[in-house]
Amino acid sequence: MTDPRSAAWDTYSHTKPQRRTTNAKGETTWFNWTQHPDHGPGAEVLTLKSGDSVLDLGCGSGGNLAHLATLGMRAVGIDLSGAQLAKARRRWSDVNGMELHQGDALAFLAASTAPYNAIYSVFGAAYFTDPGLTLPAVYGRLVPGGVFAMSQHPPVEGCYGCQASYIPRGPDEDPAIVKRWDHPPETWAAMLKEYGFEDVTATVLPAPEHGKRRIGTLLIRGVRGSSWERGHGTTRTEVTK
Ligand SMILES: C[S@@+](CC[C@H](N)C(=O)[O-])C[C@H]1O[C@@H](n2cnc3c(N)ncnc32)[C@H](O)[C@@H]1O
Repeated sequence: MTDPRSAAWDTYSHTKPQRRTTNAKGETTWFNWTQHPDHGPGAEVLTLKSGDSVLDLGCGSGGNLAHLATLGMRAVGIDLSGAQLAKARRRWSDVNGMELHQGDALAFLAASTAPYNAIYSVFGAAYFTDPGLTLPAVYGRLVPGGVFAMSQHPPVEGCYGCQASYIPRGPDEDPAIVKRWDHPPETWAAMLKEYGFEDVTATVLPAPEHGKRRIGTLLIRGVRGSSWERGHGTTRTEVTK
């Protein structure tokens, strides 16, 4: 049966142009955690080296994943939306090392046995799934020392927990609705620690100084420690480096 969320994200996909051909530095691939062009940190957040495996939860049209593949990583993406993945395949057909899958990120993590050196999500599936399910699932698929990082909008004050996101469909149609999870940075940090992550940071990166768009980006990061028997008694599969 088709996941009803995939139609919502297909709609979203049709409203978004492909990534620019080059960024402000003239690069043809790059990593961006934020919703602002040429802004914020890049792939160094993931502390990967060539040959490492990395998983993008909700990879969309694949711009960040393509960058990691060009750096020599085995770059795996999972996304619900066929339209998003079609865009990724069209745009990055000449990039080696990219592996794209269609489906739900949580189901993919549950079915996967491969360990990853890093797992990340940029305004992606980790924003749109319950962190109580996502965080332990991610933890279980990281190698010891592996990094998890995710970015999303900072919460609106007082609007915490599961929230509705509306994706416009057109003037005569109701919007598509998907769920997202918003929390203040300190709550995200506490949750990551609760599920066993170490070296946890959760920070709001301010928007660029110039420009009308003033909303920053919440960037959350944690490292899987060597002890995995933490968190809510979740069964975690040991993986080795
Ligand atoms: C706002 S877009 C961001 C796409 C991409 N990460 C980027 O930065 O351009 C959110 C993406 O997450 C995907 N997504 C949402 N929930 C998902 C889930 N449960 N499993 C897999 N993908 C999901 C959507 O299909 C969509 O492509």
